[in-house]
Amino acid sequence: MKVLVVGSGGREHSLCWAIAKSPRCAKLYCAPGNAGIEEVAKCVPLEASDVDGIVNFAVENKIGLVVVGPEVPLVAGLVDRLNEIGIRAFGPTAAAAALEGSKAFMKELCEKYGVPSAEFGHFDEPDSAKDFIRRKGAPIVVKADGLAAGKGVILCRNEHEAYAAIDHLMTERAFGAAGDEVIIEEFLTGEEASLFVLVDGVRAVPLVSAQDHKLAYDGDEGPNTGGMGAYTPAPVLTPEITKIAMDEIVTPTIEGMAAEGKPYKGVLYAGLMIKDGRPKLLEYNVRFGDPECQPLMVRLKSDILDALIACADGTLDKVKIEWRKEAALTVVMAAKGYPGRYEKGSEIRGLDKANAVDGVTVFHAGTNAENGIILANGGRVLNVTALGKTVADAQKRAYEAVDLIDWPEGFCRRDIGWRAINRK
Ligand code: AMP
Ligand code: GLY
Repeated sequence: MKVLVVGSGGREHSLCWAIAKSPRCAKLYCAPGNAGIEEVAKCVPLEASDVDGIVNFAVENKIGLVVVGPEVPLVAGLVDRLNEIGIRAFGPTAAAAALEGSKAFMKELCEKYGVPSAEFGHFDEPDSAKDFIRRKGAPIVVKADGLAAGKGVILCRNEHEAYAAIDHLMTERAFGAAGDEVIIEEFLTGEEASLFVLVDGVRAVPLVSAQDHKLAYDGDEGPNTGGMGAYTPAPVLTPEITKIAMDEIVTPTIEGMAAEGKPYKGVLYAGLMIKDGRPKLLEYNVRFGDPECQPLMVRLKSDILDALIACADGTLDKVKIEWRKEAALTVVMAAKGYPGRYEKGSEIRGLDKANAVDGVTVFHAGTNAENGIILANGGRVLNVTALGKTVADAQKRAYEAVDLIDWPEGFCRRDIGWRAINRK
């Protein structure tokens, strides 16, 4: 079967790396890919958001499965377009991707189907939003309804910040139409965890636990980012909490989506807040986490392609997903300045040496290659991923490999995995 992966991050490199190992994969393409992906797939110069271009490419090249990495093409209806012309795709339709694409849709679905989540109000003009804040008090959370590249969630310590957040989203329209409607939520406390679940429309199979580190600097401090590292297993997601989250959060959501005529297929990423042993839903994403996908892919023992096809075909009961016993951990190397302003174009050396460390795979994110030289081409640039007996062992190997990479213009956190390691 010919497979096309859509996206260009570390997530997509790890997906391509795993798919390329499948005996069922005859030819692998990635749109647009990056310098690392080029080593396992044929990169095609189409942006992930270019729905028409991707549909045409899939038709012309008789693609058997399109695997969509990022949320933007999902929310834009790429999977609907492919399904209409009989091309199989891994990922939700636009109607189902609204779980991430519209926070109002997600909150209202949760309310209707009894999924535990923060109390909320939904507003389409600033005055009533501010009245609600006045009544509820702070701390409080203000969220843009639509997609805002991960920046549409504003945690407000006092009412003043919350009014400013409303002005920023609704009056100044910092994220355009994404902020024309807002959700205002109760501020939840506890420990965060992510649960990834494969879904085939009806059945839901949780993956092994994984957790990322969102903040830019050591000790989980500094500005929010897409994720500076991740590891699996994540001890915060005990089997008991996973079962409660499946029973009370994921299953009612999947059943609710089916009942609404919007069956969910693909991977569902539930952001949870856990307090006193009970999880509440913070948010849904309709895709794999990046970087959480990277350590998950190196721990996966079974054929990923079988699982992705089963999600698309509604046959998840036919596949068994097996995992290595080892732990895995990913350290993200980013360009200095990220998540603020950063330079592109600096040269990266030493990747061969890093990849030669036992158990290590370096997945690329923002890179490109010029005459065999690897250049930084984004904020998050490399994902140094290691398997190890334990999270601590994987961490040791990952940093051993990081230290072999010669890229003075980059930086990374030195403490990825600390929560898991300290817990024991
Ligand atoms: P993002 O991943 O950028 O959408 O931001 C979501 C982050 O905001 C979560 O990972 C939480 O840290 C935080 N968050 C979202 N909703 C709440 C809430 N109701 N209470 C407390 N923190 C929240
Ligand atoms: N690592 C967080 C995300 O993918 O949204």
